[in-house]
Amino acid sequence: MALIEWKSEFSLGVPQVDTEHRELIDLINRLHQRVQLREHDTTMVDFLEELNASAAKHFAHEELMMQARGYTAYEEHHTDHQRLLNEVTAMMFEYQDGVMNNMEVMTERLYDWFCIHFKTHDAPLHRLVHSYIKL
Ligand SMILES: [Fe+2]
Ligand SMILES: [Fe+2]
Repeated sequence: MALIEWKSEFSLGVPQVDTEHRELIDLINRLHQRVQLREHDTTMVDFLEELNASAAKHFAHEELMMQARGYTAYEEHHTDHQRLLNEVTAMMFEYQDGVMNNMEVMTERLYDWFCIHFKTHDAPLHRLVHSYIKL
Protein backbone atom coordinates (compact mmCIF):
# COMPACT_ATOMS: atom_id res chain seq x y z
CA MET A 1 0.00 0.00 0.00
CA ALA A 2 1.26 3.48 -0.84
CA LEU A 3 2.42 5.62 2.07
CA ILE A 4 0.50 8.63 0.74
CA GLU A 5 -2.65 7.88 -1.24
CA TRP A 6 -3.61 10.55 -3.78
CA LYS A 7 -6.73 12.42 -2.70
CA SER A 8 -8.81 14.78 -4.79
CA GLU A 9 -8.16 17.50 -2.21
CA PHE A 10 -4.49 17.45 -3.32
CA SER A 11 -5.67 18.75 -6.67
CA LEU A 12 -5.56 22.48 -7.21
CA GLY A 13 -7.15 22.40 -10.65
CA VAL A 14 -4.00 23.99 -12.08
CA PRO A 15 -2.44 21.18 -14.14
CA GLN A 16 1.20 22.03 -13.54
CA VAL A 17 0.77 22.31 -9.76
CA ASP A 18 -1.23 19.07 -9.66
CA THR A 19 1.49 17.28 -11.61
CA GLU A 20 4.12 18.61 -9.21
CA HIS A 21 2.16 17.39 -6.17
CA ARG A 22 1.80 13.97 -7.81
CA GLU A 23 5.55 13.90 -8.48
CA LEU A 24 6.39 14.68 -4.84
CA ILE A 25 3.96 12.03 -3.56
CA ASP A 26 5.27 9.52 -6.07
CA LEU A 27 8.88 10.11 -4.99
CA ILE A 28 8.00 9.64 -1.31
CA ASN A 29 5.97 6.50 -2.08
CA ARG A 30 8.82 5.04 -4.14
CA LEU A 31 11.23 5.55 -1.28
CA HIS A 32 8.78 4.01 1.17
CA GLN A 33 8.46 0.97 -1.05
CA ARG A 34 12.24 0.56 -1.26
CA VAL A 35 12.55 0.89 2.52
CA GLN A 36 9.94 -1.83 2.96
CA LEU A 37 11.89 -4.07 0.57
CA ARG A 38 15.15 -3.05 2.32
CA GLU A 39 16.54 -1.88 -1.01
CA HIS A 40 17.10 1.77 -0.18
CA ASP A 41 20.83 1.92 0.56
CA THR A 42 22.22 2.70 -2.86
CA THR A 43 19.52 5.16 -3.80
CA MET A 44 18.89 7.17 -0.62
CA VAL A 45 21.11 10.16 -1.37
CA ASP A 46 19.98 10.28 -5.03
CA PHE A 47 16.39 10.16 -3.84
CA LEU A 48 16.81 13.01 -1.35
CA GLU A 49 18.59 15.12 -3.98
CA GLU A 50 15.75 14.48 -6.43
CA LEU A 51 13.16 15.31 -3.76
CA ASN A 52 15.01 18.54 -2.94
CA ALA A 53 15.16 19.59 -6.61
CA SER A 54 11.51 18.70 -7.32
CA ALA A 55 10.33 20.44 -4.15
CA ALA A 56 12.36 23.59 -4.87
CA LYS A 57 10.84 23.79 -8.37
CA HIS A 58 7.32 23.24 -7.04
CA PHE A 59 7.70 25.74 -4.19
CA ALA A 60 9.00 28.42 -6.57
CA HIS A 61 5.98 27.82 -8.79
CA GLU A 62 3.51 28.08 -5.88
CA GLU A 63 5.23 31.24 -4.67
CA LEU A 64 4.91 32.88 -8.08
CA MET A 65 1.19 32.06 -8.03
CA MET A 66 0.82 33.56 -4.56
CA GLN A 67 2.72 36.71 -5.48
CA ALA A 68 0.71 37.16 -8.67
CA ARG A 69 -2.49 37.09 -6.58
CA GLY A 70 -1.19 39.25 -3.72
CA TYR A 71 -1.76 36.31 -1.35
CA THR A 72 -1.83 37.67 2.21
CA ALA A 73 -0.32 34.54 3.83
CA TYR A 74 2.62 34.52 1.42
CA GLU A 75 5.34 35.08 4.03
CA GLU A 76 4.22 32.22 6.31
CA HIS A 77 3.87 29.87 3.34
CA HIS A 78 7.28 30.85 1.94
CA THR A 79 8.90 30.39 5.38
CA ASP A 80 7.47 26.89 5.63
CA HIS A 81 8.81 26.05 2.14
CA GLN A 82 12.27 27.08 3.35
CA ARG A 83 11.86 24.89 6.44
CA LEU A 84 10.90 21.91 4.25
CA LEU A 85 13.95 22.33 2.01
CA ASN A 86 16.16 22.62 5.09
CA GLU A 87 14.61 19.45 6.49
CA VAL A 88 15.41 17.45 3.34
CA THR A 89 18.98 18.75 3.47
CA ALA A 90 19.18 17.80 7.17
CA MET A 91 17.91 14.29 6.37
CA MET A 92 20.60 13.96 3.70
CA PHE A 93 23.37 14.90 6.18
CA GLU A 94 21.89 12.62 8.85
CA TYR A 95 21.90 9.74 6.41
CA GLN A 96 25.43 10.43 5.15
CA ASP A 97 26.74 10.79 8.73
CA GLY A 98 25.15 7.48 9.74
CA VAL A 99 22.82 9.18 12.24
CA MET A 100 19.71 8.28 10.26
CA ASN A 101 19.55 4.54 10.72
CA ASN A 102 15.84 3.99 11.27
CA MET A 103 14.31 4.17 7.82
CA GLU A 104 10.77 3.75 9.11
CA VAL A 105 11.23 6.97 11.07
CA MET A 106 12.50 8.67 7.93
CA THR A 107 9.43 7.67 5.93
CA GLU A 108 7.20 8.93 8.79
CA ARG A 109 9.07 12.23 8.67
CA LEU A 110 8.51 12.43 4.91
CA TYR A 111 4.82 11.64 5.33
CA ASP A 112 4.54 14.57 7.76
CA TRP A 113 6.82 16.65 5.51
CA PHE A 114 4.27 16.53 2.71
CA CYS A 115 0.95 16.13 4.54
CA ILE A 116 1.33 18.69 7.35
CA HIS A 117 2.55 21.40 4.97
CA PHE A 118 -0.24 20.54 2.57
CA LYS A 119 -2.94 20.71 5.25
CA THR A 120 -1.58 23.85 6.93
CA HIS A 121 -0.43 25.91 3.95
CA ASP A 122 -1.38 24.45 0.56
CA ALA A 123 -5.04 23.68 1.32
CA PRO A 124 -5.92 27.32 2.21
CA LEU A 125 -4.14 28.45 -0.98
CA HIS A 126 -6.09 25.87 -2.96
CA ARG A 127 -9.40 27.09 -1.53
CA LEU A 128 -8.53 30.63 -2.61
CA VAL A 129 -7.48 29.56 -6.13
CA HIS A 130 -10.65 27.46 -6.46
CA SER A 131 -12.72 30.50 -5.56
CA TYR A 132 -10.95 32.44 -8.36
CA ILE A 133 -11.60 29.64 -10.85
CA LYS A 134 -15.31 29.64 -10.00
CA LEU A 135 -15.64 33.40 -10.58
FE1 LIG B 1 2.41 22.38 -2.71
FE1 LIG C 1 3.26 25.00 -0.43
